[in-house]
Amino acid sequence: MRRIAVVVACLLATSGIVLAQDPIAQRRDVMKGVGAATRTGTQMAKGDIPFDLAKAKEVLSTYAKAAANFHEYFPTDSKTGGQTTAAPAIWENQADFRARFDAWGKDIQAASASTTDLATFRESFGTVTKACGACHNTYRIKT
Ligand code: HEC
Repeated sequence: MRRIAVVVACLLATSGIVLAQDPIAQRRDVMKGVGAATRTGTQMAKGDIPFDLAKAKEVLSTYAKAAANFHEYFPTDSKTGGQTTAAPAIWENQADFRARFDAWGKDIQAASASTTDLATFRESFGTVTKACGACHNTYRIKT
């Protein structure tokens, strides 16, 4: 019984560590996923790889998840460290930063609904990827 209690305590401690994971590493991972999805999307839009509707929807769903959660990874104690490229403007304009993700999320939802083939994907992919540079210009420091 005692052993079980110890094991449970250890498991809880480990999961606590997972939950309190470094927010900088988490948000960089999310954006790395967005970057990888964008490479796939670009290749499809250009015709470098065959168009695949399931893959196109996957690209958009990776974006949708990022748009929904990304703003959560910016506690005030994560302004520096971990090779972050997050700009101080994020904490100065939190409402705008959040609003951009909400607007991006809406565009992504519309894009996902309208994507049925290569032509519609090209168009919607072009729309949702405009947000990348627009946000990075303001909220990411150049390295
Ligand atoms: C509303 C803001 C916003 C939008 C939209 C956005 N990003 Fe980002 N992105 C950020 C911020 C902030 C960082 C810096 C995170 C950090 O270093 O802590 C970042 C970092 C990145 C990184 C670097 C990840 C790393 O290795 O550290 C890549 C790649 C990236 N974004 C790609 C994209 C692409 C591609 C899109 C569009 C499809 C996109 N982002 C849309 C805010 C945004």
